[in-house]
Amino acid sequence: MRIAIINGPNLNLLGTREPAVYGHESFDEFIPKLRKKFSSAQIEYYQTNIEGELVSLIQHCSRFDGIVLNPAAYTHTSIAIGDAIAAIKVPVVEVHISNIFAREEFRKHSYVSSVCKGVISGLSLQGYYLAIEYLIAHFQQQ
Ligand code: DQA
Repeated sequence: MRIAIINGPNLNLLGTREPAVYGHESFDEFIPKLRKKFSSAQIEYYQTNIEGELVSLIQHCSRFDGIVLNPAAYTHTSIAIGDAIAAIKVPVVEVHISNIFAREEFRKHSYVSSVCKGVISGLSLQGYYLAIEYLIAHFQQQ
């Protein structure tokens, strides 16, 4: 089973970026723990700051068995990313580290939620664990 984690802009700065909001752990520290916990799955990790590259990555991962997507700020602006998800069949789980509904008004709207299987928001990096757990269970049920 192959799962892609795709992170959007500024998430390469996790660990040092606004730690009160996003925590102190970098994704490079976190990813080995994820891979260890879900050793039965092949987990590929991608991060880009560029909107069009996120679209290309979603298309590239369309033959994976599941995608965990945190589009970061593009969540609130990108019709192109919503369209890319709508165009593929693989289940996509939208994850946000912070609770986007408890922050500024502009973060409350997502262009991707309606085309995702589900949304996890505000559970810190644990959201990625939960998303993968769901995708593995979903894959096994098929
Ligand atoms: C985020 C929330 C977004 O509003 C923000 O622009 C991010 C990160 C999160 O994971 O909490 O960059 O997606």
